[in-house]
Amino acid sequence: MNETIDRLLFEDRIFPPDPAFTAQAHIKDDSIYQEASLDRLGFWAKWAGQLEWMEPWTEVLEWKAPFAKWFVDGKLNACVNCVDRHVRNGLHNKAAIIWEGEPGDRRTLTYWDMQREVCKFANVLKDLGVQKGDRVVFYMPMIPELAIGVLACARIGAPHSVVFGGFSATSLKDRINDQQAKVVVTADGGWRRGGIVPLKQTTDEALKDCPSITACVVFQRIGGSHSITMKEGRDLWWHDLMAKADAWCEPEKMDSEDLLFILYTSGTTGKPKGIMHTTGGYLLGAYMTSLLVFDLKPEDVFWCTADIGWVTGHSYFVYGPMSNGATQVMYEGAPDTPSRDRFWKLCEDHGVTVFYTAPTAIRAFMKWGPQHPESRNLSRLRLLGSVGEPINPEAWMWYHTHIGNGRCPIVDTWWQTETGSIMITPLPGVTTLKPGSATVPFPGIEAEILTEKGKVVTSGGGYLCIKSPWPFMLRGIYGDPERYEQTYWSKWKGMYFPGDGATRDDDGYFWILGRVDDVINVAGHRIGTMEVESALVDHPLVAEAAVVGIPHEIKGTAIAAFVIIKEAGAPGPDLEKTLKQHVVDQIGAIARPEKIIFSSDLPKTRSGKIMRRLLRDIAEGKTLGDTTSLADPAVVESLKVKYEGEEG
Ligand code: WTA
Repeated sequence: MNETIDRLLFEDRIFPPDPAFTAQAHIKDDSIYQEASLDRLGFWAKWAGQLEWMEPWTEVLEWKAPFAKWFVDGKLNACVNCVDRHVRNGLHNKAAIIWEGEPGDRRTLTYWDMQREVCKFANVLKDLGVQKGDRVVFYMPMIPELAIGVLACARIGAPHSVVFGGFSATSLKDRINDQQAKVVVTADGGWRRGGIVPLKQTTDEALKDCPSITACVVFQRIGGSHSITMKEGRDLWWHDLMAKADAWCEPEKMDSEDLLFILYTSGTTGKPKGIMHTTGGYLLGAYMTSLLVFDLKPEDVFWCTADIGWVTGHSYFVYGPMSNGATQVMYEGAPDTPSRDRFWKLCEDHGVTVFYTAPTAIRAFMKWGPQHPESRNLSRLRLLGSVGEPINPEAWMWYHTHIGNGRCPIVDTWWQTETGSIMITPLPGVTTLKPGSATVPFPGIEAEILTEKGKVVTSGGGYLCIKSPWPFMLRGIYGDPERYEQTYWSKWKGMYFPGDGATRDDDGYFWILGRVDDVINVAGHRIGTMEVESALVDHPLVAEAAVVGIPHEIKGTAIAAFVIIKEAGAPGPDLEKTLKQHVVDQIGAIARPEKIIFSSDLPKTRSGKIMRRLLRDIAEGKTLGDTTSLADPAVVESLKVKYEGEEG
């Protein structure tokens, strides 16, 4: 850790805001930070007043740590805020979504189109028996219908739960069952690198064991000769249902604290957690951070490249930009299909002005070379964003130079599924940027770096901590209040522990170092080491497994698995392939181990805990640290010899 800290803090390139940018920005000076810290609740309330409420709140915050209620008794509807009020306020014919499918098909939906489609699908759900409070799962490609479906749920008060289309049938099944969802919405497939992602087939596999599901709605994305089976009495075509649906649906009056969605994310145990977000506070966060961090203006064309299956797509495709009435680009496929300039062609064709992506994508673009963005006209871009993992200064500089042409500020935004919206970030008209630093907490957010015991760290590394509740914080883990308290609020009393390590420099800037728990961030996606270990030991030939993260040029971190096989098995390339595929089948392609190292033993402490630090050192080829607490130090040496042998 110290090496990383030294390298980061050595970074002395700085980028003050361009006065021309500041002059046009929503936030032009830093008075907003003082305003927020002088009266935090008043500050949030002022901004919440910009949303459309059906009934006012009586109290801004009721805090019984760690359980918060924001905008108590306030009533609103998130869908009305994202759609209806723009239709009413003269933006009815403004493009809400400019969509491109991977094969090149295009569709544009105005806010008025969105209202009609959302209302129709809301009526479809109601006809299927979905009532306020019933959960609806989406397992879809990146097509407008996913946003339509999600907003339809918000309209009728049915919490949505989007499962990323890259997850396996087992992952989908577990998520459906954990929340006892009533309806699942999918598509016959989606396009990815010219191939078809068989979403319906995977859904069928999952639904073999999902007794709570009463209906499965299928959107026809692929059609043609791509045949799927429709199960009588359960499966229904989206287009059949929509053809009969009425184009108006009265929005439900929702309490500020009514559940808006559940989104599953990986933690330190084998089972992903259902993170719960409620209506008022979450919507405020998405609305306000979109407006201020991305400096959104009516004429902007915003493109957040994240899939709606992740929280970034929830907050910076569905709720944030849409509550601001923005025009957005949505793209279904891969960045290198049909060629490596696809993203830049999309930016050129649709005149993207604000672009938000992940460091892992930026590193891939770097590797592919600057000729791809250079071949396209990116002159409309005015602001760039980064999210999902620490951005290394080299990638930051490349992004700044080759995508932003040296003109565009970069907002490096730190946040999590649990935090709901951006927490640590520059404000582009105000903050002097340093490549690799997410800079400072958003106004109203109180962050600190603490030691294990809760002492404030002034220099060097420590644990990132959020000291007080904020409106867009998670409200819990679905069905598990104890785990909520234990995971996030027990390290230091009444304070939130995000699971990240960080450091601060002399200017008070935060440098996020990454996860300090058993979560690995692979290409910006969270995977629990235990999740992958459980998937491995699920294979009949595996006796024991230990998973660690290792540095990777593009992904940032990749998965390395140490595996002990049962006597019946023979280690070798075949088994390695089989086990990698087994993990993919169990979790999804994002969890595919980069390396499998067969071993006859694993280094354990005398109390029997696997020493992951040592495994990481072995996998990274580092000199081994202290091994004195090991039950059998010889294990390490033999592992190291074995691994290095395989490497060579
Ligand atoms: C990491 C994604 C450094 C961090 C929005 C966090 C980051 C986890 C950054 C959350 C950033 C996210 N700099 N690290 N700008 N943004 N992270 O829940 O480790 O998928 O805890 O939310 O990603 O991942 P999640």
